[in-house]
Amino acid sequence: MLNRKILVTGGLGYIGSHTVVELQNEGFDVVVIDDLSNSSIAVLDGIEAITGKQPIFEQFDLRDKQKVQDFFKNHNNIDGVIHFAASKAVGESVVKPLLYYENNVVTLIYLLQELEKKNKSHFIFSSSRTVYGRLDDKPMSENLSLKSAESPYGNTKKIGEDILKDTCMAKQNLSVVSLRYFNPIGAHSSSMIGELPLGEPQNLVPYITQTAMGIHKELKVFGGDWPTKDGTCIRDYLHVVDLAKAHITALKRLLNGENESNFEYFNLGSGKGNTVLEVIDSFERVSGRKLKYQIVGRRSGDDAIAYADTNKANEVLGWKAESTLDEAIKSAWDWEQKIRN
Ligand code: NAD
Ligand code: WQD
Repeated sequence: MLNRKILVTGGLGYIGSHTVVELQNEGFDVVVIDDLSNSSIAVLDGIEAITGKQPIFEQFDLRDKQKVQDFFKNHNNIDGVIHFAASKAVGESVVKPLLYYENNVVTLIYLLQELEKKNKSHFIFSSSRTVYGRLDDKPMSENLSLKSAESPYGNTKKIGEDILKDTCMAKQNLSVVSLRYFNPIGAHSSSMIGELPLGEPQNLVPYITQTAMGIHKELKVFGGDWPTKDGTCIRDYLHVVDLAKAHITALKRLLNGENESNFEYFNLGSGKGNTVLEVIDSFERVSGRKLKYQIVGRRSGDDAIAYADTNKANEVLGWKAESTLDEAIKSAWDWEQKIRN
C-alpha cells in the first residue's frame, strides 16, 4: 500500500502505537495526532526502533476545533483515518462524565466534519465490547441489540457508533468500520513498545506484571464467587499485535472497496474466555514466578462473563487472533522487565 497516507489519532498510545508499527511495516505513510495526555513522545523512538522510521507527528488536542481544521488544510491527501484517541478508564468516566463526553464524542464530530468535505473518506473507529452493556448471552455476538451501556465511557462508544451510522446514512462518501475490542493485552515482541499505564493500572494484566516486579504488594482478585468454573470472572484476552493487524485488514477492506455497506462493525477478541485464576496460572507458567494474590470482594460494575463471538470477524473481515494467552502474557512480562531495568 505504497504512498497511501493514513492518519492515526492517539497513535502514540497503547493500541495506536502497535497499529502504527503494522501500518509502516505494510508500506503505509503514517501521520499521528496525539496530545500525549496518556502517552509519551519516547514511543516515537520505539516505533522507529522496530520499523526503521518515525511517523509524521503533530502534537495537539483534538478538542481544539481550529487545530483540527488547520490539520486537514495542511494534509489534504489523507486516504484513511484510524481514530484511537479517547479517554478509556471506565471508573474515571463515572466520576468525570463530561470529560468523557467531550473527549470521546466532540472530537469524533470535529474529525467527521472535516472528512465529510472530502470526496471519499475511510474511517476506522475504536469501539469496545462495553457497547453491549451487561448481557446474559455468551459469547457476545454483533447480532445482539445494544442495551444501555454500563458506564459513561461505554455510552460514549455507543454514541460514537450511532453518530457514525447516521453520518454514513446521510453521506455516501464516508465508509466506516467500527471495531469492538474485548481485552487487549501484551506488547510487541521486541519490547520496544507496550502498555504504559500512568498511575496505578485498573486493568488486570499490567497489575499482575507490576505486582511481580514488586511495585504492588499483591494482586487483589475481585470476587471468587462468580458463576464460573473457578469462581473468578471470565474475559476475552487478545494480543495487542493481533488487534493491531485487524486494523490493517479493516483498512485494506475499505481502501479496496470490499466493504458490503458503508457502516460495518466487528467484534475483535480471541473468541475464548479465561478466568482471572487462569490468567494468573498463565503468568506463573511463562514467568516461572509465583504471584502474590488475594481473593477479595467483587469490583462494582464487573460482570461475570464477557467473551466474543468472532465468527463475523473471521468469516467476513477475514481476521483471526493468532496468539495464545501464554504468548500474550509472556510479551507483557518481557515488556514490564524491559521498562523497569
Ligand atoms: P491509550 O490511552 O493508550 O491511547 C489513547 C491515546 O490518545 C493516548 O496516546 C492519548 O494521549 C491520546 N489522546 C487522548 N485524548 C486525546 C485528544 N483529545 N487529543 C489527542 N490525543 C488524545 O488507550 P488505548 O488502550 O490505546 O485505547 C485506544 C482506543 O481503544 C481508545 O479509543 C479506547 O477507548 C479503545 N479501547 C481500548 C481498550 C483497552 O482495553 N485498552 C478496550 C476497548 C477499546
Ligand atoms: C479483567 C478482569 C476484573 C484488575 C476493561 C474495561 C473495558 C475495556 C477493557 C475499554 C475482571 C479482574 C482486574 C485487578 C482483578 N476497556 N481484575 N483485579 O473490566 O474486562 O474491561 O478493560 O474499552 O471497557 O471495562 O478488564 O482488565 O479491568 O479486568 O481481579 O486488579 O480482571 O474483575 O474480571 P475489564 P480489566
